[in-house]
Amino acid sequence: MKKIQIINGPNLNLLGRREPGVYGARPFDDYLADLRRRYPDVRIEYFQSNVEGELINCIHEVGFDCDGIILNAGAYTHTSIALQDAIRAVPAPVVEVHISNVHAREEYRHVSMIACACRGVICGFGLDSYRLALEGLLGWD
Ligand code: DQA
Repeated sequence: MKKIQIINGPNLNLLGRREPGVYGARPFDDYLADLRRRYPDVRIEYFQSNVEGELINCIHEVGFDCDGIILNAGAYTHTSIALQDAIRAVPAPVVEVHISNVHAREEYRHVSMIACACRGVICGFGLDSYRLALEGLLGWD
């Protein structure tokens, strides 16, 4: 069974309540339950933290023995060389994900410090961005 790790960064624990006009009204737990039902043959693990170092620790812990990581690093996407280094440090392919289309937003969100270390990037499809990233990882040999 393939094992895929979803990692959500800062403020994404508030999905459903946080700026619903930008990020939607659905709590992530609810979406995750649907995703697990839709992919019963995939072990989908989930971790969320608002702390940069904890995201890095999680990448180190899972990145040597899972089949892929779906990472929404939130605002750390735009700032964190440490996350870029963590992604480069592990063999698991990482897909950078965003719920919103960051390129249609403020200019500082157009820059990603992690994209260059990722297998691919998906943004702008709401919560479905996570499923699209999962499909990308499952289709990759
Ligand atoms: C986000 C986009 C980031 O710019 C922002 O800081 C977030 C969420 C997204 O999923 O659209 O926290 O990663």
